[in-house]
Amino acid sequence: MTRLEHILHRNGWTLAVLGAQWGDEGKGKIVDRLAEHADIVVRFGGGANAGHTLVINGERHVIHLLPSGIVRAGRTNIVGPAVVCDLEVLVRELSLANQSHAQVILDPAAVIVHPLHKLIDDGREIRSGNSALGTTRRGIGPAYEDLAARRGLRLADLAGGRNAIRHALEHNGYWQEKQALANALKIDNLPSLQHMVDWAHEFSDQIVPHLGDTRAYLARAVAEKKRIVCEGAQGIMLDVFHGQQPFTTSSGCTVGALSASTGLYHFDAVIGVTKAYTTRVGAGPFPTELKNHAGEQLRERGREIGATTGRSRSCGWLDLPALRYACRIGGITDLIMTKLDILNDFPVGIHVCTGYRVQGEELNPLTTLTRDTLESVEAHYEVFPSWSGHWTGTSLPRPIVNYLKRVAEATQCLIRAISYGAERNDFCFL
Ligand code: IMP
Repeated sequence: MTRLEHILHRNGWTLAVLGAQWGDEGKGKIVDRLAEHADIVVRFGGGANAGHTLVINGERHVIHLLPSGIVRAGRTNIVGPAVVCDLEVLVRELSLANQSHAQVILDPAAVIVHPLHKLIDDGREIRSGNSALGTTRRGIGPAYEDLAARRGLRLADLAGGRNAIRHALEHNGYWQEKQALANALKIDNLPSLQHMVDWAHEFSDQIVPHLGDTRAYLARAVAEKKRIVCEGAQGIMLDVFHGQQPFTTSSGCTVGALSASTGLYHFDAVIGVTKAYTTRVGAGPFPTELKNHAGEQLRERGREIGATTGRSRSCGWLDLPALRYACRIGGITDLIMTKLDILNDFPVGIHVCTGYRVQGEELNPLTTLTRDTLESVEAHYEVFPSWSGHWTGTSLPRPIVNYLKRVAEATQCLIRAISYGAERNDFCFL
């Protein structure tokens, strides 16, 4: 039995699944696969900027906010206190969870993303012109500002009715400040305070029954030897501390961020998910980007269009220095590689970036990959032969085995499973 299967067949385990690149690595499918063996699935960070695509019996589901366990009956799905919640998306996905007979518990401390957050995100991007960050414009940054500033609206406020919502929005001049900011950004059609109160209140009936103490629930679950999968959003290269400022998201994407918000500190494995190549959306440095036909082929074959925004993703070769950095800084112990099928019969040979040079000098592998660092490096490559023919996880062609070995050697993390198609079953533990 492989290492992950061995864990999955035990009683009582906790696994973390994190993005090991710039997001969009295919985490949703991996979490779905692990959730088959789990009691509880936890979402710990980010918001509706994420888009986890699941293909089940040919039917495509894109889930933005709730954990991917909502498509499996009987699972308990937890949304932790560091997730920022877009109420419209939340209510839509709660109804999907209902249809699948999956349970959902929402942490009352989670911050609500309201319409003004989205307008501010949008306004800042428009105003920034060429230096825009390329955010998803889902209000994520402005909502996390409220979290850090210890103010604004939280899910708990919905339980207190219109008065509590109004109080939270008016408290210490919150609404006035937001309006002043919106005016400075020249945002038209500002919602009135009354509109905001009504907007939030409209969702209360569907959300309030799901509020519960997620941290107590998880502590009890660990004591009772339940099986828990924690699902990351975005990727470690977009982490607010460890990514390339300012081209990051506003939340933590490492196992540290997971522990800090959920109180879970022991993991049987921290799984990093990486594609067999690299993609990135939004602005920011991307040393292995292919701005040529090969890049277009990756985009086309891999259907690299954002599940949340519909933006087309920039594509490039696998970047081992970045992956090694993500594994180290993110606390990853094991890797899963997705989309290996996209490189089948790849006409130009498969390139892998094995190192960076700065002014001819090899970059120290422990260097922190800041924006300045990544913008100044020159990537160098090893070329692997492509693989062809029909193969599955039990009949891996030799070039794939060599490819996986090279990745494991460079990152010091073994590849414990691969995915080679969109369907649930195009997957194999190694
Ligand atoms: P924000 O999280 O919407 O503020 O966007 C900040 C940066 O993170 C932008 O470059 C986004 O494209 C990127 N980003 C946010 N969420 C995801 C994701 O789920 N996948 C890939 N990139 C993301």
